[in-house]
Amino acid sequence: MKTILSGITPSGKLHIGNYFGAIRQHIAMQKQGDAFYFIANYHSLTSVNNGEEVRQNTFDIALDYLTLGLNPSRCTFFAQSDVPQVTELAWILGTLSPVSLMEKGVAYKDKVAQGMKPNIGLFTYPILQAADILIYNSDVVPVGQDQKQNIEICRDLAGKLNHTYDEELLTIPKEHIVKSVAVVPGIDGRKMSKSYKNTIGIFDEGKTLKKKVMSIKTDSTPLDEAKDPEKCNVFALIKLFADDELKSEIAEKYRAGGYGYGHAKKELLTLIEDYFAEARAKRRELETDMDYVRDVLKDGGEKARKRAESVMKPIREATGIIKNHSF
Ligand code: ADP
Ligand code: TRP
Repeated sequence: MKTILSGITPSGKLHIGNYFGAIRQHIAMQKQGDAFYFIANYHSLTSVNNGEEVRQNTFDIALDYLTLGLNPSRCTFFAQSDVPQVTELAWILGTLSPVSLMEKGVAYKDKVAQGMKPNIGLFTYPILQAADILIYNSDVVPVGQDQKQNIEICRDLAGKLNHTYDEELLTIPKEHIVKSVAVVPGIDGRKMSKSYKNTIGIFDEGKTLKKKVMSIKTDSTPLDEAKDPEKCNVFALIKLFADDELKSEIAEKYRAGGYGYGHAKKELLTLIEDYFAEARAKRRELETDMDYVRDVLKDGGEKARKRAESVMKPIREATGIIKNHSF
């Protein structure tokens, strides 16, 4: 059975880009193999330096996943920090990673260009991510397009460790990217991202949701003129929620003219509200059962640690690192 693994950083509220780009695949794939999903709380420290916020975000994301259909009896769901072998492996991978490999990291450059502090954690982020993946001997990593390079770095580092110690210590994983939803646009037309503050939250509702949908950037084609749906941010989002029939119906209205962006936005608003209605109700219910959420993460952490230890042990042996005085 294939091992599937993915992580999500608790650096803010989850948005519909995260949902269609990653979470939906995570949930669907829990039936297709031995799935490991974790909350990357160490990674979040590269951007959030407030303990209460990190703790709260971690629980929020756990709640979100459980609400959206993650089934803890079908997969292993846990917090990154419950598996100390991850940071142990990250160190070893770091000793094999050329500085020039990190310097090629597009995500690092982007984040610094957006004003994030260029700290070493941010610079070596892909090494910790590689350890996250490799410590469970993962085969498949479902992620959005923006993570492609990090998975390539991970493959590189796994190969380096195997080669250096002349042993198949680590499995070389593959990314799994769903092309049709590779990049979900935000309300300003750029990639939807927490760091651009252009998101529509999965659990946004009422006035907040309406305000965001109504402010989606469009061009200034007058109402009665024909419009090209494929060039419109509103339609790009509609496509994620609507079935084929509704999609072609709305595309027709765009092309016929007399259909304004305001109409399309109203249509999108209803689609979003309906799509997540059940999840919203379920989340309100789960919020009152934090003990359940805690137990899920605790059990997941135990399972993940066991697997991680079985991968880490031969690596300690190969590298000559002793643990608990055992020579
Ligand atoms: P953000 O850019 O908001 O910080 P993350 O980097 O935490 O999002 O991404 C979490 C997951 O969601 C990743 O697998 C990423 O590829 C995916 N993802 C994030 N934004 C989008 C988007 N706009 N379109 C598609 N997938 C996305
Ligand atoms: N970097 C990923 C993101 O920003 C989160 C992440 C951390 C991850 N470790 C991972 C994703 C391992 C997949 C596998 O979304």
